[in-house]
Amino acid sequence: MSHTHTAMIESVVDGFRARFGDADGVVVAMAPGRVNLIGEYTDFNEGFVFPMTVDRGVYVAIRARPDRRVRVTSIRYDEFVEYDLEQFEPPTPGSWQSYVLGVVEELRLRGRLAQGFEAAIDGNLNIGAGLSSSAALEVATAVALQQVAGFEMSRVELVTMCQYVEHNYAKVLCGIMDQFACGIGRSGHALLLDCHSLQHENVPMELGDYRIVIISSEVKRSLASSAYNTRRAECEEAVLHFSQHDNSIRTLRDVTPNLFASHIDELSPIIRRRCRHVVAENQRVLDTVGMLKAGALEGFGELMTASHRSLRDDFEVSCPQLDLLVELVNSTEGALGSRMTGAGFGGCTVSIVHHEAIPTLAEKLADYTARFGLIPNVFILQKNSEAGLVDSLPRKSVSRNSMRQEQRG
Ligand code: GLA
Repeated sequence: MSHTHTAMIESVVDGFRARFGDADGVVVAMAPGRVNLIGEYTDFNEGFVFPMTVDRGVYVAIRARPDRRVRVTSIRYDEFVEYDLEQFEPPTPGSWQSYVLGVVEELRLRGRLAQGFEAAIDGNLNIGAGLSSSAALEVATAVALQQVAGFEMSRVELVTMCQYVEHNYAKVLCGIMDQFACGIGRSGHALLLDCHSLQHENVPMELGDYRIVIISSEVKRSLASSAYNTRRAECEEAVLHFSQHDNSIRTLRDVTPNLFASHIDELSPIIRRRCRHVVAENQRVLDTVGMLKAGALEGFGELMTASHRSLRDDFEVSCPQLDLLVELVNSTEGALGSRMTGAGFGGCTVSIVHHEAIPTLAEKLADYTARFGLIPNVFILQKNSEAGLVDSLPRKSVSRNSMRQEQRG
């Protein structure tokens, strides 16, 4: 099966037609997944992150209905759900329905959606690989519904609503990074986001002969949600400590390197390590952006590797598989740096590698398979996508009438 953008549009429109009889008047929205270049576990500490979208994501083919019926099919899961808009019942948290119908219900509650629709959903992101397939699903659904219902909503409001859905319907207490990156990241750019003020800047990614290489460890992130919540609690414990000395401190974002250094002995070893990661990682994000703007790619790579070490040793969210992938990349001539990306305990690494070094790197990955019995999946990020409506639908999806008009015109 082909996973290209065009193939995905065709697949989602075909799936729509198969379920709903025809695809007349359908529009397709897409939201990409994201890879975080640097700034890990800083978002819920109101610090800085620097993610970029990838070239895969979630596709939603949608059409308004004249009544209040909601009918949605997931092509990937081969499942179908339908109900009247007012008859919403919370789906199992974490199921695809919890993300999609969570967005539908929030839009209804916020007075933005009063009519029914039918939609088919498909995607080409590896679910569970840590590339934010859930954020892409929420954002693609919201963008598609915005088109059929025609309501006004800024992208920032839309992505913060999607984060609310993730907290309250999927029951995952994530930060804002993923939804923001998937909804606001632009093609050809990475996104510097201040998670306190939500100020953001799209930074051009001009890498010359170097490529962003994403390698999936193929390790399922089973530990991720409980460990994620533990890390959140540990960060809150650190904040409590600092706020006793200075009540203006509300998050770890407010803890400067100097302040951290002057209280280091008062913190328990675990809290000290967690805190050291967050304080240093925020600075690494800002330094990375400075290096990129100056074209200093080596410095960028070194910061990525420093981030990995900090996540491995201080924040303790890596795993042996991710560590080996990072080592194999860093032992390849032409690689500038590498780190785990996302919540950790599996998922992917992200690296910056000279394009001529990629075949050598691919050979080295045999060591990974020999040690862990897993075949890592390598993506070379070409042109990253951005969330929005898809411009052109496959020709066969256009209705006969409009095709005749097109031919006449
Ligand atoms: C997950 C969460 C994000 C962020 C990262 C860690 O991807 O969804 O909000 O906290 O982990 O940086």
